[in-house]
Amino acid sequence: MKVERDEAPNERSGVVSPLRGGVRSVRVAVFGFGGVGRELARLLAFRGGEIERRYGIRFLVVAVADSRGAAVKTEGFTGYELLKLVEAHRGGVSNTPWGRSGWSINEVYDEIVPDIHVEATPPDYSTGEPGLSHAFKAVRKGAHFVTANKAPLALKFWEIMEEASKNDVYVGYKATVMAGTPLVSMLRGLRGYSIRRVEGILNATTNYILSLMEDKLVDLSDAVRIAVNDGVAEPDPRLDLEGWDAAAKIVIIANTLGIRLGLSDVNREPLNASLKDVISAARRGFRLKYLAVLEGDGGGAWVGPGEVPRESFLGMARGVLNAVRIDVGVNVISLSGKGGGVEVTAHALLSDMLEAVRGWLPP
Ligand SMILES: NC(=O)c1ccc[n+]([C@@H]2O[C@H](COP(=O)([O-])OP(=O)(O)OC[C@H]3O[C@@H](n4cnc5c(N)ncnc54)[C@H](OP(=O)(O)O)[C@@H]3O)[C@@H](O)[C@H]2O)c1
Repeated sequence: MKVERDEAPNERSGVVSPLRGGVRSVRVAVFGFGGVGRELARLLAFRGGEIERRYGIRFLVVAVADSRGAAVKTEGFTGYELLKLVEAHRGGVSNTPWGRSGWSINEVYDEIVPDIHVEATPPDYSTGEPGLSHAFKAVRKGAHFVTANKAPLALKFWEIMEEASKNDVYVGYKATVMAGTPLVSMLRGLRGYSIRRVEGILNATTNYILSLMEDKLVDLSDAVRIAVNDGVAEPDPRLDLEGWDAAAKIVIIANTLGIRLGLSDVNREPLNASLKDVISAARRGFRLKYLAVLEGDGGGAWVGPGEVPRESFLGMARGVLNAVRIDVGVNVISLSGKGGGVEVTAHALLSDMLEAVRGWLPP
């Protein structure tokens, strides 16, 4: 690992113990400086000192990049400078004092290879770009890859993992599925179990829309309009309504459980519910939900609208909540919590950044 150490290791154990005051500096580059990238910068500016005291790790942001360029400071931005970057207008990091207009990942990596690459660019499920090229570049250069962007893993999960393994780097992706809730960590704890069925509500936007339809008795197009106004749905919510987001998440879940599945293997039905469907389900004691289902080993996967009993675990997950139920034969495990939002997503990225350097944390 290339992380610089500021203090001599504890001679007896051979590692720096944060409990004894050793601090290691870890260089971080953030690609994608919109809602999530900026929230991570804010989090590091406000909580960096606390992280350093608790874990003996000093995260130094050495570069942030948006679609038009980058801002680079090889010795790392101070907390104050990070907050100045956060204030830059959208697409404007290259207009700041550290700005490099037109710089993409290649120029940034020529200047400085980070220890951790954070990917917070938008997903593109046909090409995977720019996240896919970023993922390969990062791991081949020996940077740990921590991502909120699902597309690279939904399209090339094993290729990225194999390349990362060859280069001895970590791939962290807690922020991609149920970002606010540690589902990915839990799935890793289920290795070796047989997987009978995973079913979940993994897309907050469609769950919010269906909750609105039921509560306000509005049709789909009105509910979408309200969700956009409320800031829950993107102005162009097609990735959610057509099921791409949920499909990418069930693919990531499957592969984490060792079940090899690609995005094109998922049977995907868009959200096409009418108010009549929602009312009819309610009259019979059910709720219409946008479900993502993995049918055990070899059984395939699908995403689409489906009815669940109103009082069931999934039935009770309303609004922007996510929920997942995993049947492993000897047990059924349920988990629910916030699916996204920039704050919880930035926390998930930070948690993965610490996981990437876990060898240096106290046991
Ligand atoms: N928002 C959430 O709650 C949430 C939750 C979980 C996961 N995620 C995922 O996290 C990622 C970021 O989400 P977000 O809400 O922060 O999106 P966003 O606000 O749209 O920000 C995306 C950022 O990526 C930049 N970008 C686009 N192409 C780039 C390139 N080639 N190189 C470098 N930067 C590039 C954009 O640049 P410009 O500023 O110049 O346009 C923008 O700064 C997405 O993949 C999203 O699906 C989001």
